[in-house]
Amino acid sequence: MKTLVVANQKGGVGKTSTLVHLAFDFLERGLKVVVIDLDTQANASYTLQSFRSNLVASELFAAVPSSAWPQTATDFTDPNTQRMTLIGSDIGLANLEKKMSLAEAGANFREAIKTVEGQGFDVCLIDTAPSLGVTMAAALLAADYVLSPIELEAYSIQGIKQMVTTIAHLRKANHKLKFLGMVPSKVDARNPRHARHLEELERAYPQLMIPTGVGLRSSIADALASRVPVWKIRKTAARKATQEIRALAAHVFEKMEMTQ
Ligand SMILES: Nc1ncnc2c1ncn2[C@@H]1O[C@H](COP(=O)(O)OP(=O)(O)OP(=O)(O)O)[C@@H](O)[C@H]1O
Ligand SMILES: [Mg+2]
Repeated sequence: MKTLVVANQKGGVGKTSTLVHLAFDFLERGLKVVVIDLDTQANASYTLQSFRSNLVASELFAAVPSSAWPQTATDFTDPNTQRMTLIGSDIGLANLEKKMSLAEAGANFREAIKTVEGQGFDVCLIDTAPSLGVTMAAALLAADYVLSPIELEAYSIQGIKQMVTTIAHLRKANHKLKFLGMVPSKVDARNPRHARHLEELERAYPQLMIPTGVGLRSSIADALASRVPVWKIRKTAARKATQEIRALAAHVFEKMEMTQ
């Protein structure tokens, strides 16, 4: 099982939208997908509601010996459907941010991921909250890959350095973690400020800018609200969004060295 975290401490930059679409795309490629929602806003849990299991995300941080896990875990793959399972966000995550050290949360979460892996999933996709908290750091300590959607606005760019530093720092403790890069999201091609910021970023982070960005497309918001991927939205405007998201998913799939 390969694990990807979608992270950026800046809010509203397209993390959940990216995560949900990667999940749908990978599912359609025939992979067995598990999604973990570590954000108490529960946006991914809302869109992927029909895949919800009875396991909630804060349980993954509990210090349960891994031998005790399968009892909970046997139920968390829905037998009817699907190769996709959601471990949804719950309010327990908020307490954990206050109470748990990173050492403890990181160790427990890493163990839990191993147990999840034992359930036969091909890929684990983790959504995170917009903050540099314990849960985000724990996810990065357990993951193989991290992807950071970004907006081409000043406040978003201002935070990038911190995100890059955080990832570099956690890579010292998790050597297998690969930074797949930053995905420009909600890009308005007609906005000269966006074009300028994109140029600046490509100059500053030539290795880290993912070439397949996603435009500012209202059909993406429609899709998330309707709990479907954008390619299920029957509007002409959804076509362009679909092309962009599919290209991004193909890029990520390749970089993760996934096989169908
Ligand atoms: N490419 C896009 N074009 C237009 N709107 C988008 C696009 N991507 C996401 N959105 C909308 O922008 C808002 C923020 O997106 P999203 O929830 O994916 O960001 P986020 O980084 O997960 O936010 P948070 O940090 O709050 O979790 C949502 O309302 C979503 O529907
Ligand atoms: Mg989100």
